[in-house]
Amino acid sequence: MSILLFIFFFTYGNSESQLYNQEHEILLNIKKHFQNPSFLSHWIKSNTSSHCSWPEILCTKNSVTSLSMINTNITQTIPPFLCELKNLTYIDFQFNCIPNEFPKSLYNCSKLEHLDLSQNFFVGTIPNDIDRLAHLQFLSLGANNFSGDIPMSIEIVSLERYQVALNLIEIDLSENNLVGKIPNDFGELQRLTYLSFFMNNLTGKIPSSLFMLKNLSTVYLAMNSLFGEIPNVVEALNLTKIDLSMNNLVGKIPNDFGKLQQLTVLNLYKNNLSGEIPQSIGNLKSLKGFHVFKNKFSGTLPSDFGLHSKLEYFRIEINNFKRKLPENLCYHGKLQILGAYENNLSGELPKSIGNCSNLFALEIDRNEFSGKIPSGLWNMNLVTFIISHNKFTGEMPQNFSSSISLFDISYNQFYGGIPIGVSSWTNLVKFIASKNYLNGSIPQELTTLPNLERLLLDQNQLKGSLPFDVISWKSLVTLNLSQNQLNVQIPVSIGHLPSLSVLDLSENQFSGEIPLILTRLRNLNLNLSTNHLTGRVPIEFENSAYDRSFLNNSGVCVGTQALNLTLCKSGLKKPINVSRWFLEKKEQTLENSWELISFQRLNFTESDIVSSMTEQNIIGSGGFGTSNRNLRQELEASFRAEVRILSNIRHRNIVKLLCCISNEDSMMLVYEYLRHSSLDKWLHNKNESLAMLDSAQHVVLGWPKRLRIAIRIAHGLCYMHHDCSPPIIHRYIKTSNILLDSEFNAKVADFGFARFLTKPGQFNTMSALVGSFGYMAPEYVQTTRINEKIDVFSFGVILLELTTSKKATCGDEHSSLAQWAWRHIQAESNIIELLDNEVMEQSCLDEMCCIFKLGIMCTATLLLVDLP
Ligand SMILES: *[C@@H]1O[C@H](CO)[C@@H](O)[C@H](O)[C@H]1NC(C)=O
Ligand SMILES: *[C@@H]1O[C@H](CO)[C@@H](O)[C@H](O)[C@H]1NC(C)=O
Ligand SMILES: *[C@@H]1O[C@H](CO)[C@@H](O)[C@H](O)[C@H]1NC(C)=O
Ligand SMILES: *[C@@H]1O[C@H](CO)[C@@H](O)[C@H](O)[C@H]1NC(C)=O
Ligand SMILES: *[C@@H]1O[C@H](CO)[C@@H](O)[C@H](O)[C@H]1NC(C)=O
Ligand SMILES: *[C@@H]1O[C@H](CO)[C@@H](O)[C@H](O)[C@H]1NC(C)=O
Ligand SMILES: *[C@@H]1O[C@H](CO)[C@@H](O)[C@H](O)[C@H]1NC(C)=O
Ligand SMILES: *[C@@H]1O[C@H](CO)[C@@H](O)[C@H](O)[C@H]1NC(C)=O
Ligand SMILES: *[C@@H]1O[C@H](CO)[C@@H](O)[C@H](O)[C@H]1NC(C)=O
Ligand SMILES: *[C@@H]1O[C@H](CO)[C@@H](O)[C@H](O)[C@H]1NC(C)=O
Ligand SMILES: *[C@@H]1O[C@H](CO)[C@@H](O)[C@H](O)[C@H]1NC(C)=O
Repeated sequence: MSILLFIFFFTYGNSESQLYNQEHEILLNIKKHFQNPSFLSHWIKSNTSSHCSWPEILCTKNSVTSLSMINTNITQTIPPFLCELKNLTYIDFQFNCIPNEFPKSLYNCSKLEHLDLSQNFFVGTIPNDIDRLAHLQFLSLGANNFSGDIPMSIEIVSLERYQVALNLIEIDLSENNLVGKIPNDFGELQRLTYLSFFMNNLTGKIPSSLFMLKNLSTVYLAMNSLFGEIPNVVEALNLTKIDLSMNNLVGKIPNDFGKLQQLTVLNLYKNNLSGEIPQSIGNLKSLKGFHVFKNKFSGTLPSDFGLHSKLEYFRIEINNFKRKLPENLCYHGKLQILGAYENNLSGELPKSIGNCSNLFALEIDRNEFSGKIPSGLWNMNLVTFIISHNKFTGEMPQNFSSSISLFDISYNQFYGGIPIGVSSWTNLVKFIASKNYLNGSIPQELTTLPNLERLLLDQNQLKGSLPFDVISWKSLVTLNLSQNQLNVQIPVSIGHLPSLSVLDLSENQFSGEIPLILTRLRNLNLNLSTNHLTGRVPIEFENSAYDRSFLNNSGVCVGTQALNLTLCKSGLKKPINVSRWFLEKKEQTLENSWELISFQRLNFTESDIVSSMTEQNIIGSGGFGTSNRNLRQELEASFRAEVRILSNIRHRNIVKLLCCISNEDSMMLVYEYLRHSSLDKWLHNKNESLAMLDSAQHVVLGWPKRLRIAIRIAHGLCYMHHDCSPPIIHRYIKTSNILLDSEFNAKVADFGFARFLTKPGQFNTMSALVGSFGYMAPEYVQTTRINEKIDVFSFGVILLELTTSKKATCGDEHSSLAQWAWRHIQAESNIIELLDNEVMEQSCLDEMCCIFKLGIMCTATLLLVDLP
């Protein structure tokens, strides 16, 4: 005994440094256990700097009492020798990847008060003898995998078997897989201030003892399967946050909750609670968040809500509340969210809502509200404004929060027009105003909104045409304008909306044909039924996906049985182009018997042709009365000329004549179908060319295409002039007579004025001057004598058009493009400045200049130049 005492005294002076050295050694072993991670690189053996200065460590009287390694990627287990640091009171390993079961070795840390192992990968049970940590005050095991995920035994943690450490002040077991009931023992934790068990699978009732704990301030039991009623007697007057949401609780809100003057948040949403809200709840002084949505509450709301506390969130949606919203809900102006949809609320909106500058979400749809919207509301910073299915009246505001994103006033009684001011609602994603009394037209300003995805204006009284130009609408997916009085044609611009997939224009008065461009919209859900549309349904729509799209348009017909609609007189599978002359207008022109002369094997008939004519495939037509005998003779002559010439020649760059049909009144020439129509539309009429394109990107015809077109025309002319015998002179070469197929291959068309030359190179004198201003060689105009070179002149004009993109007629006031170009050449202008900027690229400058010069040469003087 005395020896022992002696040793004790002998070592006393050194014992403190001995403990220090021991703990130093233990810490270095911990580092080794964690495999020397880089975040502990400063833990080095040293007798100069103290480990008490390491950031992970706290010491009391030079002994380690606290160890924290938060968010450090630890993947090893807790070192079993950790508790050799005997004085540890505080351990924090939150946010790591620590595996395995609860480390029972921690029981040897007999002084432990604070243990945080949350946000790790622990599995298995929470040991039921955890109360051996008798001094534990703070325990957090939240967000782990405490459940039966261990192989071999599927074991689930039950909270019932769990012994509580009686000194606990805070406990967090949230986000695990705990089952069973909350033990009554928790009512004995007199010091408890914080209890969080949310997101487990706990069942049973809430122990009534829990709400007797005087120091309890936070209870989070949300997202479990708790049932029964909320304990009726509440003495935990220090409660500030109660979250019992998403359980199966029934019954009423205890009257005693009205005593909780510290309460800031009351979350009871998504339960099966019922009855009225106690009046006293409306008097709580600290309440900021009141969330009771999706229950079975009923009755009138406490009238003083909002008057005594600075309410920020008020969500009572999906219940059976009736009568008015509390008048002072936004008395303090702090309200941010007001959710009250799907109740039986009625009356006008409280005036205080009109002066509620922090409000960003107002969702009160599906009630019985009436009257006007308090005007102050329009000036606030609302992001969400959903008031549909009520009985509100009034006009839409000219100005509104520019942050508004969801705007839904559908199924109310709003009247007046859509304000032009909508163009400033730039963040708008949904604009829903179905079923009101809106009238006037749809302003173009509405098409400026770049983020708009849904626009529903159906069931109103909107009139007039749709805006012809759409300014943005680049995100628009759904456009529903059905059941209005919109008319005129469906604008082509609708077909260019890049995201559109639902288009409902049914039950309006739209007329004209179904724009072909709509067929470019992939998987379009289309409803154009009950309008005044005419013409043939585009072939692309002739399938069952569209069988309800065109109903009840008496003028619309289809080529096949696929849709339950009137068949067009006959169907043509292969599209054609038709040029058509009416010699005499009679009522039943198309019914008369036709004579068909075909130039190759055809698998369609006269009536196929007649029934499939549309505005789009008629490339030229004219109507003349019988009174003008001369004109009639001339027309017949040119018809015959064209038939005679085209039926005799075949060339890749000359349009193919399939057949001609005629009767007493009309004559028609049927050509192969050339998808991209005529060259002039591409050079001078970009809107029309836009409609023919698959995407809106390449409206400008690029130089490589232009050069190829020039060469192909030259081939066609060369064939006519040199390979045909006798040679053919076209006399009418111009860009509107150059047709382009889907690959932009050029073909010369319209041979109505062409003539055979008696001998190559000779002049024939014509009885009448034929041609278009700007394309006619001056010599020809003066003498009416022709040879091949008048076509060369016209070709030269086309070359000038291709390089400058100017019209043949567009010189100055009285001069043509050719004269304009010549004047510039004589003035020695820089050619590059004459070329079309939009087409010009550095790499093709030489070619463009060269073709321009060729155009100059072709239009120089007839007798000097031969065909290139
Ligand atoms: C530190 O300890 C080493 C041996 O571990 C010793 O050689 C050295 O003298 C000591 N330095 C001081 C300042 O005590
Ligand atoms: C640390 O533990 C030792 C004995 O193990 C004890 O003498 C000392 O007082 C403790 N220090 C603290 C700060 O608790
Ligand atoms: C943890 O790992 C992540 C990703 O591997 C890395 O970005 C982060 O810096 C690491 N943190 C520490 C403290 O090592
Ligand atoms: C506590 O420490 C003692 C001695 O170091 C050891 O035998 C025992 O296994 C430890 N207890 C636990 C639960 O690890
Ligand atoms: C823990 O649970 C999460 C989510 O269930 C899972 O992704 C993860 O792999 C689990 N980890 C372990 C170690 O079991
Ligand atoms: C809760 O229990 C139900 C069945 O009782 C189960 O389907 C569900 O996955 C459990 N949830 C968790 C988080 O374990
Ligand atoms: C309750 O809290 C007060 C103030 O924080 C404290 O003085 C008192 O000891 C606590 N009561 C219990 C039983 O811990
Ligand atoms: C309630 O909490 C406050 C601090 O939030 C504290 O001052 C007061 O002592 C507590 N009341 C009781 C009865 O514990
Ligand atoms: C909700 O409570 C009512 C009685 O108040 C009961 O009839 C109903 O079954 C409960 N519903 C659910 C989903 O628990
Ligand atoms: C086709 O239309 C007729 C009359 O319009 C109607 O009686 C019939 O039920 C429709 N058939 C289908 C398959 O819709
Ligand atoms: C006519 O011929 C084309 C091929 O030249 C073919 O695709 C089409 O189906 C035919 N039409 C009919 C009605 O037989």
